[in-house]
Amino acid sequence: MRDWTNSAYTLPGKAASYWLETIPGTRHPPLSEDIRVDVAILGGGIVGITSALLLKEAGLSVAVIEADRIFRGVSGHTTAKVTSQHHLIYDWLLKQFGRDRAQMYADSNQAAIERIDALSRQHRIDCDLLYRPAYVYAGTEQSEERIRNEVQAARSLRLPATFDADVPLPFATYGAIRFDNQAQFHPGKYLNGLAQEIPGDGSAIYEETRALEIQEGEPMVVKTGRGCVRATDVIQATHVPFHDKPGLYFARLHQSRSYALAMRINETFPSGMFINAESPARSLRSQPAEGGELVLVAGDEHRTGEGNPTFDHYRHLEEWARSIYSVQSVDYRWSTQDTMPLDRVPYIGRQTPGHDHLYVATGFRKWGMTAGTVAAIVLSDMIQDRSNPWVEVYDPARFQPLGPVPSAIEQVAETAKGLAGARLTGAPEEASQLVAGTGAVVEVKGEKVGAYRDLNGVLHTFDLTCRHMGCLVAWNAAEKSWDCPCHGSRYTALGDVLHGPAVKSLNRKGQQ
Ligand SMILES: Cc1cc2nc3c(=O)[nH]c(=O)nc-3n(C[C@H](O)[C@H](O)[C@H](O)COP(=O)(O)OP(=O)(O)OC[C@H]3O[C@@H](n4cnc5c(N)ncnc54)[C@H](O)[C@@H]3O)c2cc1C
Ligand code: FES
Repeated sequence: MRDWTNSAYTLPGKAASYWLETIPGTRHPPLSEDIRVDVAILGGGIVGITSALLLKEAGLSVAVIEADRIFRGVSGHTTAKVTSQHHLIYDWLLKQFGRDRAQMYADSNQAAIERIDALSRQHRIDCDLLYRPAYVYAGTEQSEERIRNEVQAARSLRLPATFDADVPLPFATYGAIRFDNQAQFHPGKYLNGLAQEIPGDGSAIYEETRALEIQEGEPMVVKTGRGCVRATDVIQATHVPFHDKPGLYFARLHQSRSYALAMRINETFPSGMFINAESPARSLRSQPAEGGELVLVAGDEHRTGEGNPTFDHYRHLEEWARSIYSVQSVDYRWSTQDTMPLDRVPYIGRQTPGHDHLYVATGFRKWGMTAGTVAAIVLSDMIQDRSNPWVEVYDPARFQPLGPVPSAIEQVAETAKGLAGARLTGAPEEASQLVAGTGAVVEVKGEKVGAYRDLNGVLHTFDLTCRHMGCLVAWNAAEKSWDCPCHGSRYTALGDVLHGPAVKSLNRKGQQ
């Protein structure tokens, strides 16, 4: 029988996030009745958990509603650099947003580093927080000018930036922008520590409870499959908003996946966190671990639902790592995705100007450790009617004419064009040829459907139509999931929701 995976390459390491493997599991109960709180926070990643803690500390009652287990989403699969150096952004911000708003972006993300440090001290969380310089290095001669422009822009915003010609990496570069006093941490240990402070005094965390619908009013009502949450204010901290029609968020975001390997090398890793200026990304940092240090190698991004064969992304990273280091072992591998906004700046604030009690935080562009913390600070201030100096730059309603940014409508058209149809124009595979543990688009009675053969040999078939807005999902062989190319929803091999904006499972066709 044919194995529809890339048989030429064996995926390395354990398929698990190092962060999640090294913290205890959580056991918060699911919602079991209707409840009333001051603030309903949907999603238990860095945005949801940090917001909940700040609001609870301000005296409000909060309910965190988590579809799965808390911090098992993107925040549990990040590379966890804690930095205001968000790749090359400040030269862009100065040109597109002007000095005042570029300064808000810089100040807020620098402040987020301090807030993470302060919260971990306040709550005595040992989360491997270490101060390290952050580098974006020029891997090609062409990138050097961009790096130098970025140094100038960042310095003009009082960021701790310098041009460093001597980058401590084992290959030639054309210099780098270095930010001093940036940090790295263990996000699982950090969020686990924060989450322990939330339950009690009218506040709670509910796991395995998916928010399905938000009804606006006074109070706001969040419907789940297990009861309703009534709240004065609601924060969609679900990474990508599922209630996304007000404000057309589905048209203003796309999701981009990246891959990570955690490995042991013979060399001593330098003190620093690194990423190249070019695409595909090559990101490096180290992490203290039992039995010695791990090195995280990440990158090889692509739009969710594309990038097949997905095995190749792990292979590219492993080959690159082996070309620069003497690799002893690859211990873990994982992948995840983040939301990419139209103009490179997250959307944090009221969902739209007309929705006074509905808040959103999304579009972190793979820098959500600091930006997610900024979101929690901004939203908790807004909910308490306190002024916050950074609101304006993140305001989701900010859309002034922006030069090279494609309009939302163009992006919708681009997304819709062909994606729904094109995916099915290829020849379907033969269901009888699927080996256990693999999936493919197959033809059953003249109709193309999704099929997955489980480890007992049972064939499960699905309608390929994504339950968000009807695009067609594609099989992701490396992660054994069904991924939607339109707005990045993902489903397990058996069709259950893994990642929004979808909230409903794929429709099942049958099993045999
Ligand atoms: C490969 C990669 C590397 C990265 N590295 C870095 C880095 O080094 N530094 C950095 O700053 N940032 C990094 N990021 C970005 C950062 O990890 C994310 O921006 C951040 O974790 C997003 O946090 P979140 O709280 O928005 O989402 P999540 O952590 O995904 O939390 C959202 C939660 O909501 C839950 N949920 C979803 N839908 C529902 C629903 N309907 N009802 C209830 N709950 C729901 C999910 O289960 C999840 O637990 C990286 C991103 C990627 C993809
Ligand atoms: S994620 Fe929007 S249609 Fe699939």
